[in-house]
Amino acid sequence: MAKVLVATEKPFAKVAVDGIKKVIDDAGFELVLLEKYTDKKQLLDAVADVDAVIIRSDIVDAEVLAAGKNLKIVVRAGAGYDNVDLDSATKNGVCVMNTPGQNSNAVAELALGMMVYAVRNFYNGTSGTELKGKKLGIHAYGNVGKNVARIAKGFGMDIYAYDAFCPANVIEADGVKVVASAEELYKTCDVVSLHIPATDETKNSINYDLLSKMPAGAMLVNTARKEVINEADMVKLMEERADFKYVTDIPPANNAEMAEKFAGRYFSTPKKMGAQTAEANINAGIAAANQIVDFIKNGNEKFRVNK
Ligand code: 3PG
Repeated sequence: MAKVLVATEKPFAKVAVDGIKKVIDDAGFELVLLEKYTDKKQLLDAVADVDAVIIRSDIVDAEVLAAGKNLKIVVRAGAGYDNVDLDSATKNGVCVMNTPGQNSNAVAELALGMMVYAVRNFYNGTSGTELKGKKLGIHAYGNVGKNVARIAKGFGMDIYAYDAFCPANVIEADGVKVVASAEELYKTCDVVSLHIPATDETKNSINYDLLSKMPAGAMLVNTARKEVINEADMVKLMEERADFKYVTDIPPANNAEMAEKFAGRYFSTPKKMGAQTAEANINAGIAAANQIVDFIKNGNEKFRVNK
C-alpha cells in the first residue's frame, strides 16, 4: 500500500486535510500527517518510508530527498517550487510537480486587499486615497496576475502588465495594456503588484534602479517571494522617498528594521498568507492528492516540473 505524507509546517485548513484523506483512502493508499513541525529532523524521519509527499513552502532539499528512500513523487500544493531541489530530485529519480492555478484567486484577493489597506493608511483613521483610476502594473501575467487584473477591473483601475514569456495577445484579450519592459511598467504605474517566481534570474532583481522609476506616491505590493527584492536597495529607496509605500506578504529578512524605519508606509504579514484560505487549501491540497494517485496508478506526469 502506497504511503502519502502531508508535510506542512504551515498546515492546510482541516476541511482540506479531510478532502485529501478521502482521495488517498479511496485510492487504497495510506495517509500520514506531519503538521506544524518545528524541526527538520521531524521531516527527515517522516519522509523515511513514504512513497509520496505533499508540501507547501516546506524545504525539500538534497538531505530530505536522500532520507526518502522510497520516495517517488513530491507535489508542491501551490505554484512556486523554489523550495524544492529539482536537480537532487532528478538524481534520486523523484518526480516533482506543482498544482498551478489552484490557489491563485486567494493570492490575488490578498494583493488587492493589501492595496486597499495601504492606500487607506493602514486603517489608522486618516484620509487616504482610492484605487479607482490609478495605474496598476502587474509584473508577470501568470495565474495570479490574471486574477489580479480581473479583480482590479472591478475597482476601476487602469491596468498594465509586463511578462517576458506571456504572449501580448493573451494579456490584451483581458483588456490589459502590455508594456515592453519592466522599466516601462515601473515608470508608468502608481501601484506595482509582483507575481514573478524566485529564480536565479529574478532574485534581487527588484532593485533601486527599477523602484526609483516609479511616480510620486507609488506603492509596491509583494505577494510573490521575498528573494526577488533587493532589500538593501529597498531601504535606500524608502529612506530617500518618503512618498513610497511597500506592503508585502512575505516578511523580509530585515522586517524589524523596515517596520521601525518606515512605520506608516510599510507593512508585512507575520507569515505568508496569500494562499491561506479554506478554498485555496482545498483546491491545491486535493489537486496534489489526485496528482499523486494518478502518478502512482497510471504514471501521469502532466504537472511535472523537474527533468
Ligand atoms: C505558492 O507558491 O503557491 C504560494 O506562494 C503559496 O505558498 P504557501 O502554500 O506556502 O502558502
